Amino acid sequence: MSSILKQRKVIVTGGPTREWLDPVRFLSNPSSGKMGIALAREAHKRAQETVFIHGPIHSSSLVEVPCRRVPIESTANLLTAVLEELQDNAVLIMSAAPADYTPVEKSPIKMKKTGSELVLTLTRTPDILKNVYDRRTSGTWNNIFVAGFAAETTNVEEYALGKLKNKGLDMICCNDVSREGAGFGTDTNIITIFTGSGSKIELPILSKTEVASRILDQVEAELGGVR
Ligand code: PMT
Repeated sequence: MSSILKQRKVIVTGGPTREWLDPVRFLSNPSSGKMGIALAREAHKRAQETVFIHGPIHSSSLVEVPCRRVPIESTANLLTAVLEELQDNAVLIMSAAPADYTPVEKSPIKMKKTGSELVLTLTRTPDILKNVYDRRTSGTWNNIFVAGFAAETTNVEEYALGKLKNKGLDMICCNDVSREGAGFGTDTNIITIFTGSGSKIELPILSKTEVASRILDQVEAELGGVR
């Protein structure tokens, strides 16, 4: 059976972003890119075109990615790349873990250790999904589908549903990253999918490859394809 995604470009984001403090230090998180790679591989089998926009991840895992790749570093870079790749009828799947804060001042030279404490002033990075939502509502693209992720440790369902609404998503894949076998760095994940149309699909612990397949099945179902 031909996938409804055969008529669409799929943009998958994965991995962390880095926010540099000085030439030798950065703020980041433990995202390995495994979830994003699994999604890009699965999308490549089904979609007209797939692009994988990724933060710094291990080069050995990138050889598994069969589609076009766009490497980025910071959250601001990720926003620019997503906006460049989005087009009418595209599907965006945001599994990247962008850093939410960046240092207000970035030192061009290595900061020397002085006192026993160091106080940093950070400022918010752009919210990529919110930017996409704002542009989408002002008519920049027609007929796009946007799926986000939620990485939570408490009030998982409540926060995921809040993100689904506030970021104007069509679907959110929520992982309780405090659970063993879920979230950052693991080969498995435990996902609950909430859709804008009100469905809740609880998946058991599965390999990230299988999770990616189930997420794309749900994207196809939401787009009106039969699975
Ligand atoms: O890479 P792995 O090691 O395989 O781990 C997978 C994963 C845990 C990173 C993945 O499953 C996951 O949960 N990704 C989302 C991580 C995250 O940033 O969650 P969040 O709840 O903080 O953000 C909510 C959504 O907003 C996400 O889709 C995120 O991509 C997006 N976001 C976040 C920050 C930001 N500045 N702009 C955004 O658009």
